[in-house]
Parts: sequence; structure tokens; C-alpha cells
Amino acid sequence: MRVPRSSPGSMTSTPEHLKAQILELTRQYSRQVHDRFRPASDPDRRPWQTGETIPYAGRVFTEDEVEAAVSSTLDFWLTLGQEGDAFQQELATFLGVRYSLLVNSGSSANLIAISALTSPKLPAERRIKPGDEVVTVAAGFPTTVAPIVQVGAVPVFIDADPETGNARCDQLELAYSPGKTKAVMMAHALGNPFDLAATLAFCRKYDLWLVEDNCDALGCSYSMPRPLAESLGFTENSPGLDEGPDRVVRWTGTWGDISTQSFYPPHHLTMGEGGAVSIVRDGKLKVIAESFRDWGRDCWCPSGIDNTCGKRFGWQVGELPYGYDHKYSYSHLGYNLKPLDPQAAIGRVQLKRLPEFIQARKLNWEVLRRGLALCSDVLVFSLPTHAADWDAESGFSWDDSGCRTNCSWFGFKLQIKQGAHFTRTDLARWLDSHQIGNRMLFGGNLVRQPAFTQLLQAQPKAFRVVGELSGSDEIMTHCLFLGTYPGLTPEMLKFKIKIIREYILPK
Ligand SMILES: Cc1ncc(COP(=O)(O)O)c(C=O)c1O
Repeated sequence: MRVPRSSPGSMTSTPEHLKAQILELTRQYSRQVHDRFRPASDPDRRPWQTGETIPYAGRVFTEDEVEAAVSSTLDFWLTLGQEGDAFQQELATFLGVRYSLLVNSGSSANLIAISALTSPKLPAERRIKPGDEVVTVAAGFPTTVAPIVQVGAVPVFIDADPETGNARCDQLELAYSPGKTKAVMMAHALGNPFDLAATLAFCRKYDLWLVEDNCDALGCSYSMPRPLAESLGFTENSPGLDEGPDRVVRWTGTWGDISTQSFYPPHHLTMGEGGAVSIVRDGKLKVIAESFRDWGRDCWCPSGIDNTCGKRFGWQVGELPYGYDHKYSYSHLGYNLKPLDPQAAIGRVQLKRLPEFIQARKLNWEVLRRGLALCSDVLVFSLPTHAADWDAESGFSWDDSGCRTNCSWFGFKLQIKQGAHFTRTDLARWLDSHQIGNRMLFGGNLVRQPAFTQLLQAQPKAFRVVGELSGSDEIMTHCLFLGTYPGLTPEMLKFKIKIIREYILPK
């Protein structure tokens, strides 16, 4: 493409004009070459053609994101700066938490979240020390669990329920070990909140931290009757949520002490690579988490800024001499897990689309559920936690716990019933042969993954398992999930349903 040149000295040669031209051309370019990535609801989205791949998930964006990335890149601050600060503030405001810190992935967010809980700055009885235990769930994504091992703690695996995909919270008590258990760290599976009422009651009873891996669940909410919420310490709704005066409703990621997000492309919003650690209430955890993210330093100056505390040469920490530069004083064995400012610039545009994306995920799940209802002789469909059933007329009915979930689905999970005339892998192959994206519930039963079998061989006490984990095995063997992402057009959804019905229903 030819970029118009401006003559020296003309108005168009000022940096502002040059930037405006570049950004205008960027928008034109993006409109031409990225039209199949626009939201499905966008009239300018290039229609899907039969024969084209239907990914299970992916980037959904317009020229707005591309312009934001280019604009920030032209500024060339590069490391986290004003876009990062703004994104952190805007995400924290959306969720209604005290702080959100940007990191370079959801996995890094989990590493920072659990590392923060090992800090010597926390009370001795609460901090996680080597050999302490963290309760987690066996079916899921490996980097929900790996950081527990990486900080020297011991994961204790409870089972997952194949219907919800989530932890069987009735096993929490069985996992508890007095004096050793310090935290619970689990994911809301595929955009389905786990039983927060049971988990929080367990955490309150034993004074444990709760880390919510919210990487697959941005925009999910969980509600409970007000007296129950108040007994657990919650009085306020999250911003923008309301289920009447008798209930408290909050986003997932705002019930625990710390929560994490992933902004990798299949997730609810993307910046390519990226993630966030949200500190729900306790400001001290923010300073600690930031220290682990930023090399382990004691100082909290933003990149490129000196002397935020006003006494850069007035500290005495560790065995360093009084007045040693606070910028180079380290209170933790930290990392550097920051993303770039252009990533944050993309994220800011995506965050504005989040309400629309959440709605699209809900709608797409509903379309698949209705379209595949005829296949229920051989398929078990996922139920939101606390749902008792679903029917086409009235939607979900609820169990008598009084708690409710509202799912911002990451995926549409199917379980193949015993006795079906095909296996999960047969169905996955059929979908693959029609270029329909499908995935297994990540690592299945994680304790059967080589990383964990090898770990146990080398260190027999590296983790503990509660019971048989038969639900996790079932998920590993009989489940897969389809996409619900906001790039799916009605034609793509229709095609998915047609192909699955063709395979399953008698001719
Ligand atoms: C539940 C869960 N936690 C953590 C992660 C890791 O996120 P990332 O890929 O950004 O490292 C994922 C990735 O999909 C995930 O599904």
C-alpha cells in the first residue's frame, strides 16, 4: 500500500498530522483485511462460507483495536505506561475490586497470586510456607495448579463433577489438614462459577485464602440470599448487577481474596498475550503482588518513575545500609511478568466490548442447547452450578440452596452417555473432519498427565489426592466442548448443530 508522502514544511509533516494519517490508513487497512474477525453481530463482518473452518474461539476485533495498538506503538513507551495504568483502573472499576494488575498471561497471574500468599509481609500463621497445602481441583488447566508446586506448596486435589465441570465442594472438608491447609485455588470451569457459597464457608471456617482462577469466566456472576452473603462478609453488589434487595450478586473474581484473568485470544477479551491479578479488598496484597510481578522489589514506583515514596534514599531494609536506593531493594524473590503498553491499549478497546461479548456467549450457548436438545438420549449437557435442570420453555430451574449462577460461557460442554453408539473421540474426529473447532476440558484429570506422574515419582509427597477422582476421569474420557465465542455467526452455529445432529440422530 502506498502511504501518502507529505512535502517538507507542509502542515501534514507535523508529528500529529503524520500520526493521524497513519492511524487513518491503519483503520482502512484493517477494515479490508480483518473483516472476518469482526463481532458476529457487526453488519460489516464478512459472511462465513460453508467449507471455512469454524474455530472454537479466537480474536474478535475491529479497526478500533488495531488503531489502538498502532497508536500506542508509535508513542513507543513500550513497557507498561499510561495505557496499562488506564486498563488496570478500568478493569478494577468494571469488576468493583480494589486493584487489578496487568501481567503477561493468565498463567503468570496465577503464579503471582499464589506467590503473593507466600510473602513474609503476611502474618506468619496465614502465609503459605513450603510444605503447606492448597486445595484445588483435579480436572482443569495445568497452570491453575503448577504455581502451587512452583512456590513449594502441596496441591490437594478434590474431584470435579462431570455435569458442571466444577469442583465437588462436598469434598473440601475431606481435603482439609489442620495446620497445613492455607488456601483454596480453583478455576470457574468453562465460564461456570464453582459453588462459591460452600467454598467461602469452608475458607471462613478455617481462615483460608481463596484464589479464584477467573481466566475462563470474566462476566460470570454468582448470587446468594442476602443473609447468607452477609454471614460470609458480603453486603454489596458488583457494579452494574442487581437481583433485588433480598440478594447479593457479584461477578466471579470478586468473592475470593485474589482472582486472575487470561487475555489470550480465546478468552472473554484479548490483548494477544496478557492476564490480570485482581486484589479484591486488601491493599497490602496489591503491594506484594506488584513486587512479585516487578522483580521482587520493595519499591512501588511505576516504570520510568523515581521516588514515588518521597524517600528513595531514606530506607533501611534487610541488612542493606541505611539510604540504599529503594528502587534496588528487594523484599521478594520476584519475576518480571509485565506485558507491553500496546497490549493494554488493545485491552482497553476490548473492555468496552465486554458487555456485548458476554451477551453473545450466553446467546450462543442457548442456541446450541436448543439446537442439540434432540440429542439428549446420548449427550449430557453441562448445567450451571446450582441449576437443577433446563427446558426449552422456561430455561433453568434451580436447586434449593438459594444460590444462583449466571454463566458467561467459555465453552459448550458435552458428555457422551455410557452406551452411546460412538465415543467422545469419534465425535471429536467427526467435528474435526468438518473443520468444527472442539476441545477437551484442557488437561482432563491432571494427576494423570506426565508432568504430575513424573513429579510424584520423583517426590512422593508432591501432591495429595482426595478419593478416587472418578468424576475427573469421566470428564477426561467422555467430555468435549464446542465454542461459544462472539465471533460465531448464526450460520456457523446452525452448521455446527446440523453436523452434530447428522452424526448422532438416526437417519
Ligand atoms: C482456567 C485457566 N487458567 C489459566 C489459564 C492460563 O492462561 P494463559 O493462557 O493466558 O496463560 C487458562 C488458559 O486457557 C485457563 O483456562
